[in-house]
Amino acid sequence: MNFKRLTDLDLRGKRVFIRADLNVPQDDALAITDDTRIRASVPAIVHCLQAGAAVMVTSHLGRPTEGQLRDEDSLAPIAARLGQLLGREVPLVRDWVDGPVPVQPGGVVLLENCRCNKGEKKDDEGLARRMAALCDIYVNDAFGTAHRAEATTHGIARFAPVACAGPLLAAELDALGKALHAPRRPLVAIVAGSKVSTKLTILKSLADKVDQLIVGGGIANTFLLAAGTPIGKSLAEADLVAEAREIIDAMARRGASVPLPTDVVVASEFSAQAQARMSPPMRSVPTT
Ligand code: 3PG
Repeated sequence: MNFKRLTDLDLRGKRVFIRADLNVPQDDALAITDDTRIRASVPAIVHCLQAGAAVMVTSHLGRPTEGQLRDEDSLAPIAARLGQLLGREVPLVRDWVDGPVPVQPGGVVLLENCRCNKGEKKDDEGLARRMAALCDIYVNDAFGTAHRAEATTHGIARFAPVACAGPLLAAELDALGKALHAPRRPLVAIVAGSKVSTKLTILKSLADKVDQLIVGGGIANTFLLAAGTPIGKSLAEADLVAEAREIIDAMARRGASVPLPTDVVVASEFSAQAQARMSPPMRSVPTT
């Protein structure tokens, strides 16, 4: 796939803005319970530092209310963990959108939770332009958030002098390019997550290409509903059942399929303490 890569650019003395995905799980005391995403984001940062750039990194954490920064929204624990991994202090900068961001070539700062900025989620053009003005080079290294058109994932890339993919995004794009353009068959795609709505375009696009589309998480529930299987109170999007049905039917017409779970784990309530048991999904209700 042809796109601009961070590793192809001359970064010396440049102000580099990295949109990472540092959205890590935390316990009730805000301690990080899995730092995989922070560790995965280190190579892009180290590459920029070694190349002599002034590095600004930001990420979202959770789904906060824009215009507020509560303690649980703060990237402070992430700045601390990133600092341990880089072996240097990583200052955390608040209220950074209008700059100037205090960072020099060879230095790195973490910019507070970008989803606390008004306009982030709606991909506001004004916000995107203000953020783009902070940098010479914008790097998207947030594959886990790349499906969202938000100001730090999409808008800023339109206005930054240079926009490129970081190593995480580039590796995923390379793998996707190989899998979709010259695949070995049978080709299977696995897509999971809570919502069909945010992944509808990709589900439809994959439905044309793969031999089997395996769905997981809440998405599987919507497909179970579409197949006429009752799912109790499980998370699903009832208004997208018709779209899911269309995907199942379109794949069936060309001899491909959406295999659905043959057994499931059920519990009577959403709680870590709930007693769970294996249960076959209830028998499908004919839809025609
Ligand atoms: C994730 O954890 O799935 C990504 O960081 C995206 O988070 P979001 O679903 O809140 O956009």
